[in-house]
Amino acid sequence: MSIALEHVNYVYSPGTAYEKQALKDVSLEIPQGQFVGIIGHTGSGKSTLIQHLNGLIRATSGKILYEGQNIYEEGYDMRKLRSQVGLVFQYPEYQLFEVDVITDVCFGPKNQGLSPEECEKRAREALELVGFPEKYYRQSPFELSGGQKRRVAIAGILAMRPKVLVLDEPTAGLDPKGRDEILDQIDYLHRQTGMTVILVSHSMEDIAEYVDRIIVMNRGEKMYDGVPREVFSHYKELEKVGLAAPQVTYVMHELKERGFPVSPDVTTIEEAADEIMRSFHD
Ligand SMILES: Nc1ncnc2c1ncn2[C@@H]1O[C@H](COP(=O)(O)OP(=O)(O)O)[C@@H](O)[C@H]1O
Ligand SMILES: [Mg+2]
Repeated sequence: MSIALEHVNYVYSPGTAYEKQALKDVSLEIPQGQFVGIIGHTGSGKSTLIQHLNGLIRATSGKILYEGQNIYEEGYDMRKLRSQVGLVFQYPEYQLFEVDVITDVCFGPKNQGLSPEECEKRAREALELVGFPEKYYRQSPFELSGGQKRRVAIAGILAMRPKVLVLDEPTAGLDPKGRDEILDQIDYLHRQTGMTVILVSHSMEDIAEYVDRIIVMNRGEKMYDGVPREVFSHYKELEKVGLAAPQVTYVMHELKERGFPVSPDVTTIEEAADEIMRSFHD
C-alpha cells in the first residue's frame, strides 16, 4: 500500500516558447501511514509533483503507481483515486463557497453520492479532527479568521475519508501562531487516523519536528530524501539552494566546532537541550 513515482518527467507547454521542464526523472515511494515533508525553494517543482499524486496532471513520461497499480493504465478508476488521495491546494480558503461551514464540508461527501445524514456525520467528524469549534458550524465561512477558514478547507477534504492527505503549503500566509496551530493539528490528525500525510513547505523550520521523512526538491529534481537528521547534515549544500536548516542545526554545529562534545545531528530544540545536558554529564 503505497504511492510510487517511477522516473517521472513533466514539461509545461511543450513545443512552445514557454516550455518548462518542471520535473526531471523523479522516482520515490511513500508507504501508507508515513508523514512526509516535501521541501524546496519556490519554483522547485513541489506543486507540480503533488498534483501528479491524484492524477490531476499527467506525467509527460514515467509512471505513477498507487497501491501497486499504474494509474495511467486504460480503465483505471481516476475518480476513486481522487477520493483516496485528498489534495488541499495552497490558499484553499479561496475555494470555500457554501452558505455555512457544515454545508461546505459536506460538499465532497455529497458528491460521492452519500445520504445527507452520512454527509453530515462525516462533516462533523472531519471538523472535529481539525479542531474546529462546533458553535461556528452554522456560520458563513467568509466570516472566519484565516486559520479557521483553512481548517474548514482541510475538513472538506477529510470528509471524503481519503487514505492519503496532501497539503500544499498549508501554513502560507498565516501568522506564527496560526502556523503552529495548523501544524499541530495536522500532526494530531496524522496520529489519530494513521493516514499518509504529505506536507509541502518551503521552510525546514516548519516541518522538522513533525515529519518522519523529508524530500528536498531542487530545480525539478529530487535532491535529498531521508529522515530529517540525515537531510539536515547537508545544511551547507541546502543553503546553496536557498534552504536553511532549522536554526538548532546551526547552533549545534557551532558548539561542536568550538569544542563542545555534542553530537550536532539533532532536529528539534528539545533534542538539542537534552544533547547539551548530556554532554555536561559525560
Ligand atoms: N502552468 C504552468 N505553466 C508553465 N510553467 C509552470 C506552470 N506552473 C508552474 N510552472 C513552472 O514550473 C516550475 C515548477 O513550479 P511549481 O511546481 O509550481 O513549483 P513550487 O510549487 O515548488 O513553487 C516553475 O519554474 C514554474 O514557473
Ligand atoms: Mg507551489
